[in-house]
Amino acid sequence: MAITVQEEGRLFTIHTKNTTYQMKADRYGVLLHLYYGRGTEGSMEYLLTYGDRAYAGNINDTGKDRTYSLDFLPQEFPVSGTGDMRSPALIAEYGNGAVSCDLRFQSFRVIDGKYALRGLPAVYAADNEAQTLEIVLGDTAGMLEVKLLYGVLPELDIITRSALITNTSGEEVRLEKVMSASFDRVYGNYDLITFYGRHAMERNFQRTPVAHMEQMIGSRRGTSSHQFNPMMILADPDTTETAGGCYAMQFVWSGGFSGCAGMDQFGQTRMQLGLMQEKFSYPLMPGETFTAPEVIMSYSSEGLEKLSNNLQACIREHVCRGKWRDEIRPVLLNSWEAYYMDFDGADILALAEQAALLGMDMLVLDDGWFGRRNDDMSSLGDWYVNEEKLGGRMQELIYWVHRKGLKFGIWVEPEMVSEDSDLYRVHPDWAMAIPGRKPVRGRHQLVLDFSRKEVVDAIFESICKVLDMGTVDYLKWDYNRSIADVYSATAGNQGKVLYDYILGLYDFLERLGQKYPDMLIEGCSGGGGRFDAGMLYYTPQIWCSDNTDAIDRLRIQYGTSFGYPASCVGAHVSICPNEQNGRVTPLNTRGVVAMSGTFGYELNPEKLTEEEKEEIRGQIARRKQLAGLIHEGSYHRLTNPFDGECAAWAFVSKDRNEALLNVVNLEIHGNRPVTYVRMRGLEPGAMYREEESGRVYPANALMQAGLPMPMPTGEYGALQILFKRV
Ligand code: GLA
Repeated sequence: MAITVQEEGRLFTIHTKNTTYQMKADRYGVLLHLYYGRGTEGSMEYLLTYGDRAYAGNINDTGKDRTYSLDFLPQEFPVSGTGDMRSPALIAEYGNGAVSCDLRFQSFRVIDGKYALRGLPAVYAADNEAQTLEIVLGDTAGMLEVKLLYGVLPELDIITRSALITNTSGEEVRLEKVMSASFDRVYGNYDLITFYGRHAMERNFQRTPVAHMEQMIGSRRGTSSHQFNPMMILADPDTTETAGGCYAMQFVWSGGFSGCAGMDQFGQTRMQLGLMQEKFSYPLMPGETFTAPEVIMSYSSEGLEKLSNNLQACIREHVCRGKWRDEIRPVLLNSWEAYYMDFDGADILALAEQAALLGMDMLVLDDGWFGRRNDDMSSLGDWYVNEEKLGGRMQELIYWVHRKGLKFGIWVEPEMVSEDSDLYRVHPDWAMAIPGRKPVRGRHQLVLDFSRKEVVDAIFESICKVLDMGTVDYLKWDYNRSIADVYSATAGNQGKVLYDYILGLYDFLERLGQKYPDMLIEGCSGGGGRFDAGMLYYTPQIWCSDNTDAIDRLRIQYGTSFGYPASCVGAHVSICPNEQNGRVTPLNTRGVVAMSGTFGYELNPEKLTEEEKEEIRGQIARRKQLAGLIHEGSYHRLTNPFDGECAAWAFVSKDRNEALLNVVNLEIHGNRPVTYVRMRGLEPGAMYREEESGRVYPANALMQAGLPMPMPTGEYGALQILFKRV
C-alpha cells in the first residue's frame, strides 16, 4: 500500500519505493506538510516547531495562543487570507473585491489507480500500478471547496499533484492565482535548477542558490515557451549527478506558467509551480469547478541522474500514449531545410526517391503545400492543397510516396491564421485581437482563438479533410509565435481566455488522436518552444529545436534530458555549414547526436556526395540496430557539455545487457592531455565486451576507472562504443 492513513484519518503518508511524503490535518484542520524525502517511518510531526513570532498572524481560532501561525508552518496548499504572507498557492477574490480564503480539512479518500483530469492531460497508470489520495478542504466561510489530488506511482518514485477548486458560494468567485503544487521545506540550503533559453537554443542549464528572495521563472506567452521550460529542481548544494538529495516539479501543461522558489524570513524554502498569474482571472460561477493542471513530483537521494530517470520513465510510460508510445519511430526525411517553401511536386517526389534509396522510412512534407503559401506572409488557415504547386492532387502524392515503400507525413499549424488568407477574410473575429487595437503580429501571423469551440471545430474539420486524402502516417503540429493580444470575442471575462485556449488545443489533439490512432504526431513550436509534458500526452515526440547544429544540440539535448526521455526528442541530421549558426561538424558527429533522439534527416540528399550517402546508409542501419536501446534505455549524463573538453552520455538497456557510450569532442589543443570517460549504469561485477575491438572489461573498471578516449584529430570528432554483457 503506497498510501496509509493514521491518527483517525488525519495523518497521511505516501510511501514510494525510495521516498516518503507526509502531511497532517492538525488540530485546527489545517493541512500541514510534514515531510518529503528519502523513505522513513512513523510520524514526522516532531519536525514542526511553534513560537511566538512578532508580526506572524494567528488564525482566529487559536484564541490566546500566539505560537501558532501559518506565516511559518509548512503547508500543502497555502492560501491568501490566513496570515501566511509567503507566496500563496491560491488567491480567490469575491464580488466585493475582498481576497480571502481559509481552507480546513473535511474528508479524504484513497482510491486504487491514478486519477484522471477531465479535458486535461495527466499521468495515467493501471489500477495495480498506482493509487490516488483525495483530500477535501473547505473554506471556513463556505465560499470554496478544494479537492487536493495526489497520484502515486510507487515504483517510479513519482507523486503527482492537482487541485479541483469548486465554488460553493452563491456568488461569482474569481481565481486570481492557482499554483498546482506548493512544497515547503522547514530548513536547509538549496540550489534551484532551471532551464532557460531562446528560439534555437532551448533548455540551457542554470543552477543558482535559493536565497532570501522569491526567484521566479515562467512564461507570459500563452505557451510553455523557449524561454523557460516548465520544470524545476530543488537540490542540496552538494548534489551531483550521482549523489545528493533533489526534488523535481514538472508541469503537465502547455500554456503560460510560473514557478518560484524562495527562502522566507526563518530560512524555510517554499517551491511552487502553477499557472501564470498575469492575464489570469478565472471566473467561477456557483457550483463550477476549476481544474489546476497536474504537476509531476519526484525525489531522489541519489543525485540528479536518478531524478531524471524517474521523470523520463514517467513521461515515456505514463504520459505518452497510443500506438507510438512503445514503437520505434520511423527514420524520416523532412523537406524543410531541403527546400523551405520553394518546391514543387517533382522536388518532393525526388526527395522521396532519395529517402527510399538511403533506407529511410518516411518522407515529411513540411510547410508550403497549402493555400498560396510560398513564404510566411500568407495562407495559414487555408488548409487546402495547392495542387498547382504540387503539380497534382495530394492523393496522388501520398500514393507515390507510399509506392516507394515510405510512410508519408505532413506539416500543419492549426492554431494560426495569416491576414492574407481566405479564412481571415471570412472570419476576422476568429483571430485574437483586442477591440479598437491592431493586433501584434508574430512571423506575420495571428493566433486563432482556440478558446472558442466553433473555431476549434472548423479548423478540425478542414485539417481532417486533408488527412482523409490518403493514409497520412505522421503529422507535424507547429506553433510559431507567442500570444500577445489576449481577447476572445465571446468570452465574458478575458481572464479565462488563456486557460480555455489550452483546453481547446487539448480537445483538438484528443479528437485527432482518437480519429487517427495510427498516425504519429510530432509537436513543434519553432523547434522546442512548447516542449512540455502536456503536449507529450498527445504527441509522443516533439521537435526539440530548430537548431540542428550538432554542438549546440549537445547542450539543448543535455538540458532536455533532465526531464524528458530521448524517445520524445525530435533530432535530425542536417547539412554543413549548419544553416542556423554556420558551424562545420563531421557527418558522423551529426549522426551520433541525432541518434540520441527520434532520428531523421533534414537536407536534400541530391546535394550530397556518394561517400556521404554511403555514410548515411550506415548511420541509418546503425540507428536501427540501436533504436530499442535508445528508446527505452536509461540515460546517463557522463559530462556537462557546457564546460569540459568532451560531451559524453550513455544509454543502458533495462536488463543492463547492452550499453551505448557516446562521446563528442568539444576542444582540440596541441599535445592535449588524455580524456577519460567513466561509464555508469552497468551491472556491477559483470563483464562487458566492446563490440568493435572485442575487448572485454569489468563493469567496475569501466565505471570506476573509465576509458581513455582516442586523441582527437580535427574538430568535433565523435565516437560511439557499444558494450554487450558477456
Ligand atoms: C518552424 C519549425 C520548422 C519548420 C518551420 C516551417 O520554424 O520549427 O521545423 O517546420 O516552422 O515554417
